[in-house]
Amino acid sequence: MFITFEGIDGCGKSIQISKFGATLKEQGIPLVITSEPGGTKIGQAIRKILLDVDNTDIAYLTELFLIQADRAQHVRDVIKPALDAGKWVICDRYYDATTVYQGIVMEQHEKLIEQLNHEVSLGCEPDITFLLDCPAEVGLKRTEEREKTDKKRDRFERKSLDFHVKIRYGYLALAHKHKDRFKIIDSTLHEDHVARKIREIISPYLPVV
Ligand code: TYD
Repeated sequence: MFITFEGIDGCGKSIQISKFGATLKEQGIPLVITSEPGGTKIGQAIRKILLDVDNTDIAYLTELFLIQADRAQHVRDVIKPALDAGKWVICDRYYDATTVYQGIVMEQHEKLIEQLNHEVSLGCEPDITFLLDCPAEVGLKRTEEREKTDKKRDRFERKSLDFHVKIRYGYLALAHKHKDRFKIIDSTLHEDHVARKIREIISPYLPVV
C-alpha cells in the first residue's frame, strides 16, 4: 500500500503521520515513513535550497525542476524499492503537492507538471491520499505559533494568506477530480478525532489476523 498525506502548511500532517505510523507498526505491518521534499541525502540538499527564505527570487522553473529532481531520487531510492519489497509506504506530500503548489496555484505549465509527475514516479501511484483540510487562516496560525517555540517558517510558509487560500482550494479541486483515491478529512477537529477517522478509512485494508 502506498499512502500519501497532503494539505496546506500547518494542516497537521506530521502529527497524524506519526500517530498513523504507530498504529500500523502495532499491527506488525512492514512500513516506511518518508517525506518530500528531502526524503534522501541528495533530496536534503535540494530541500535546503527550496525552503531557504533567502531564495525568494528563485525562478519558477528552477523550483519546479528541483522538486521533481528531489522526487526522482526519492522514488528510485526509497519509495519504489519499499513497495517492490511488499512494504507499506507513507509519504508526507507527493506529486499532488506539485500539481497544486506549482501547477494550479501558479497557473503555469500544468501539462508539463503532469508529464514530469508521471515520469519521475516510475509507476508508483498512491492507493490512498489523505487530504487534511482546514481553512488557510487555521494553518497559517499554526505555523506562526510553531515559529515561537519550535521552528522558523520556511519560504513557502511565509507566503501570503491569499496564496494558502489558493492552495487549499487547489487541493479540494484535485480531490474532487480523483474522488476514489482522495479522502478529505476535516483537520480542524481534535487530533484524536482526525486519527480515528484515518484508522476507520484504512481498516478494510489491514491484513486479517
Ligand atoms: P513540508 O516538508 O510538508 O513542510 P514542513 O514539514 O516544513 O511542514 O513541505 C515543505 C514545503 O514544500 C511546503 O510548503 C510545500 C512545498 N512543496 C511544493 O511546493 N511542491 C511539492 O511538490 C512539495 C513536495 C512540497
